[in-house]
Amino acid sequence: MKLDVRGYARVAQAFVTRKVPVYAHYGITHRCNLTCKMCGIWRYGNRKEELELPQIEQMAQKMKRLGVVQLSIGGGEPFACEYLEEAAKCFVDAGLQTRVLTNGVGVGEERLRKCVDYGVNSFSISLDSLYPARFDYICEKEGSWIEAVKSMTIIGQLVKGSNGLPSINCVVSNLNLEELPEMVKFAAALGWHISFLPIELLAGPKDGVRNWEGRFVRYRPEMGVNVNDSAQMVQDRIDRAYEQLLRMKKEGWPILNSTPYLEASRLYLKTGRFPAEGCDAGRLYFSVSPNGQFAICHRTEHQHMHFLDPKFEEYFHQAEYERKRLLEAGSCEGCMRACWIDNSFMFRTIEGFFEASRMAVTSRVRDPASWDEAQRWAKYDQVDIVPQQAG
Ligand SMILES: C[S@@+](CC[C@H](N)C(=O)[O-])C[C@H]1O[C@@H](n2cnc3c(N)ncnc32)[C@H](O)[C@@H]1O
Ligand code: SF4
Ligand code: SF4
Repeated sequence: MKLDVRGYARVAQAFVTRKVPVYAHYGITHRCNLTCKMCGIWRYGNRKEELELPQIEQMAQKMKRLGVVQLSIGGGEPFACEYLEEAAKCFVDAGLQTRVLTNGVGVGEERLRKCVDYGVNSFSISLDSLYPARFDYICEKEGSWIEAVKSMTIIGQLVKGSNGLPSINCVVSNLNLEELPEMVKFAAALGWHISFLPIELLAGPKDGVRNWEGRFVRYRPEMGVNVNDSAQMVQDRIDRAYEQLLRMKKEGWPILNSTPYLEASRLYLKTGRFPAEGCDAGRLYFSVSPNGQFAICHRTEHQHMHFLDPKFEEYFHQAEYERKRLLEAGSCEGCMRACWIDNSFMFRTIEGFFEASRMAVTSRVRDPASWDEAQRWAKYDQVDIVPQQAG
């Protein structure tokens, strides 16, 4: 991803001090056009809680002053916000590398083109399977696979030749453990990168949500990796999948996750244990909710000053903020969110830092696939949507 001199200086400063919030996430809306099986965000969608454009413009300027280099706009589904394109432009105009995280379903070329015309050249699209039937089952909407992949091919053409980094977001679950290497090859054929995120689910139907973010995930036993498998079979399935990903990463396939993150994901899926290194929430990155509430990361809310409060920047640099932040991050059980944890790996491990730097320097969108080429990757052979056997 192309950075200007200010961007490189901020990243270098963050590497040395780990005290510059180079990455921010703005969940512009909780509304969504899909009801994916593992996700519950769409249940909280409410147009009235969302910010208007002048407030978003203020937010963008404030982020710039705080040192943010890269901003991801997610949700919910960001395109459910009628003025997403104009909102994205506010961040681009403030000089932030701006990325849109979308499901790509029902978006259409016109809105994608507008984003690109406004200066957005990075997109992620969620895709969890090469079997259209399986993916439509996950999204609970027929035709989702076709629409998501069509959006990918449109984006590929629109950002061709730029330094953008379009990538697939793939949630690793019981449903797709055997598909991961093929998903990497598909991403490469499209001229895209791919990022893998282990699924997070509630443990039981009546499981109380443990934190604010917990409201957003659901109880879906058929998607958990240990469904119907004996312990050893589960370990073998996970090992097989991640051995292949780690090998492909070494071979130079376009896998966005760092090697330490992939190792940590494997361990998490096998044991439920999160990375032990701790994290840099609230320092290297932060999150802003649809209503403008600041949080150190996706999981906690309402403990800090509102992001649009005129005193926020002062607050962010005060000892009181640091005390609260340390308490929150220190008492957290951990998480596997790649956008947060991989940032920490990038700044804490030499391996993570060099891999990310190499990707930043070499990434360039070349030879995007056409829809005709892309759709040939769709699999229509008869398999169970939910794998019945172990392995
Ligand atoms: C919440 S969505 C928001 C952006 C957009 N609507 C999309 O689907 O790409 C961001 C990512 O979270 C993933 N996700 C949703 N529920 C999840 C869960 N329970 N565990 C892990 N990832 C999940 C989605 O698949 C998606 O890649
Ligand atoms: S994962 Fe994204 S597309 Fe699916 S319901 Fe959640 S917010 Fe919507
Ligand atoms: S580990 Fe905890 S504090 Fe850190 S990003 Fe994850 S949920 Fe937030």
